[in-house]
Amino acid sequence: MGETCKNWTEWLSKTRFASLTEEQKTQTLNWLSLVGDIIINSAKIEENDTVIDIGTGTGLLAFKALEKLNGTGCVIFSDMFQDCLDNCQEFINANAENIKGQYKMLLSPADKIDLPEGSVDKAIMRSVLVHIVDKQSAINEVCRVLKKGGIFSFFEPVISSNTRYWELVRPENIKNYEAFKEAENTFMTDFSDSLCNFDENSIAENLDAAGFSDGEINLDNVESKYIVSAPMIDEWFNNPPAPGRPTIKDRFLRFFSEEDVREYIKDLKRELTGREITVRTKSIFAYAVK
Ligand SMILES: C[S@@+](CC[C@H](N)C(=O)[O-])C[C@H]1O[C@@H](n2cnc3c(N)ncnc32)[C@H](O)[C@@H]1O
Repeated sequence: MGETCKNWTEWLSKTRFASLTEEQKTQTLNWLSLVGDIIINSAKIEENDTVIDIGTGTGLLAFKALEKLNGTGCVIFSDMFQDCLDNCQEFINANAENIKGQYKMLLSPADKIDLPEGSVDKAIMRSVLVHIVDKQSAINEVCRVLKKGGIFSFFEPVISSNTRYWELVRPENIKNYEAFKEAENTFMTDFSDSLCNFDENSIAENLDAAGFSDGEINLDNVESKYIVSAPMIDEWFNNPPAPGRPTIKDRFLRFFSEEDVREYIKDLKRELTGREITVRTKSIFAYAVK
């Protein structure tokens, strides 16, 4: 990899799996499906509901919603990028005999959804707020398009809580360890960065401020173990977290020279290749009732 990722469809179908082994890719796909099922179940989708999947991407949630509706109601595949909607439409065209029910494609940013107030029963979303700096505006907009009593069910990874690279290594084996630790802590808590500017508490405040009357936020804290390979470390540094966004390497380059970052990556490879590491991730599963 290391090349600029063209668009969201490419990122979702290829880039995000680039640092994974085949086994890890299968585990990730199974996990994504499970996350989708949890979101759909929490949305309590009923016959004849109008359901909007905001930031649908390749339609992970929207296709599950269509199945759940079983030929009734309507699913709105909504995204800010046309490539995503085209990709979903192509999938529908290729699998027309297996897809029942009404659907619409809606090109709209999450903070300005092109739908009237109170027009949908359920809103579902996975890993979209994490790409939007102003989460309050997007959550306000979800609340606006929902009917009274409508449910917003969503999942977001709390990236600022993830294990950091400096935690995985022995300080004495890394040149400039303290400076790299400080730089990573700085960019992982940058409030202007959509990836890091939130947690479960800020999301709860956003939901309240938007006018949701009830709801629940559940945390999923996971520890995963795996053996590190050198190419995996290259992918960690060179894979963008979203199309057009700075890679981890770009983020370190704001603080260090190209040569220093290259040395740091070399030190990490020496330190971690062949070693089993444990990484921590935290995610939010939430639902809110208007
Ligand atoms: C990580 S992907 C998740 C896709 C899909 N929800 C899933 O679970 O596979 C993020 C999605 O959010 C969309 N997106 C990013 N910013 C957006 C915005 N401001 N408004 C609407 N969609 C947005 C992207 O186009 C992309 O499809």
